[in-house]
Amino acid sequence: MRKKIVAGNWKMNLNLQEATALYNELNQTNFPNDVKIIVAPPSLYLSQFSRNQNYLSLASQNVNDNEKGAITGEISAEMLSAINLNYCIIGHSERRALFNETDAQIKSKLDLLLKNNISPILCCGETLKERESGNASTIVLKQISEATKHLSPEEFQRVILAYEPVWAIGTGVTATTEQAQEMHATIRTYLTKIIGDNSTEISILYGGSCKPTNAKELFACKDIDGGLIGGAALKADSFIAIANSFS
Ligand code: 13P
Repeated sequence: MRKKIVAGNWKMNLNLQEATALYNELNQTNFPNDVKIIVAPPSLYLSQFSRNQNYLSLASQNVNDNEKGAITGEISAEMLSAINLNYCIIGHSERRALFNETDAQIKSKLDLLLKNNISPILCCGETLKERESGNASTIVLKQISEATKHLSPEEFQRVILAYEPVWAIGTGVTATTEQAQEMHATIRTYLTKIIGDNSTEISILYGGSCKPTNAKELFACKDIDGGLIGGAALKADSFIAIANSFS
């Protein structure tokens, strides 16, 4: 049975004091046993927090697409693995848009993560313009296939997918449950075509203005296995409420 997952992407928020307080509070929280809880703080804090992983698992928000070398300011998959990280977000729309990340780079990141025993949380999602022109599912499936089409079913099972419609990120506009479930079902159908029965084991998270008031309805959908949370992950009470939203 695939995992239920709630992951918090803190992005470039929270100073060290705030981040430590939030991490410690979440790390002492008794989350539901059947929900995997992951947080992705700014990378600067990962090493410190990783010594104290209790109820929480840690994710990096990024990794470089090269193994090592003269690439000032970057962090490799091997470095993340050395501090016992189990997850890493890749392909987030903010990185695609702000840093011009390509599908080819995202594929390299994914390969390096798998090689270092880190599960990639691969993000995909269309812009409003792409949705309005009727191309949303083509765009989303292309983003997934470009990064994963070379994987064996066994390798694919170590990947977590996150559907994050760009128009819903940080805007307060959530996809309706119908829109979200429809895209998740499209992704699941694609996965079944590619990797057969193994597709039922892949968790597909929803992200984009997910909050305590809409999480229950979203998580009740057949193909939505949890959430990748931005703004609402920055406060313990709202993040905990979301983690408790599975029926
Ligand atoms: P918001 O929850 O703030 O919309 O952000 C979603 C997101 O980008 C998570 O990666």
